[in-house]
Amino acid sequence: MPALPRFALLSLLLATGAAAVHATPAENDAALLKLATDSGCMACHSVLPAAKRADGLPPIAPAWREIALKYRDDPTASDRLTQTVMTGSNPKARHWTGKTGATAMPPNTNAISEADARMLVNWLLVLVP
Ligand code: HEC
Repeated sequence: MPALPRFALLSLLLATGAAAVHATPAENDAALLKLATDSGCMACHSVLPAAKRADGLPPIAPAWREIALKYRDDPTASDRLTQTVMTGSNPKARHWTGKTGATAMPPNTNAISEADARMLVNWLLVLVP
């Protein structure tokens, strides 16, 4: 996606720091889902656990909700997962082997800033029912 909409969204979030406090949870979800979509995350991830793909293979990547459940009691998850998003997942030490396809997550440094990645990670970590 072009850099402009993402920049516009970020400036909106920053410039309206006070207003953001008043965003409804639904508005907050929509803004962060847009950031995830604009950053390319949703090409591989989904919000809710996905059934198998049309070709019968497992999903490409874990759903946000599955990640939230896996790390719900882990106080280091925010920092560690932000780093994983930036550097990509280690293909030799995968955390989702057998649950997702065979390809590891590539680095996302070209698609998202570390600050935005942290914002997304903190959002998806609380997407527990
Ligand atoms: C090309 C596909 C792809 C893209 C694009 C992608 N991911 Fe991933 N992601 C994966 C896969 C595959 C895994 C599972 C890695 C593993 O097994 O450890 C994963 C795992 C994760 C995890 C959990 C890591 C762990 O150690 O358990 C987080 C958090 C995550 N991705 C966030 C993101 C965010 C945020 C973005 C967008 C900036 C993104 N991903 C973009 C494929 C992708």
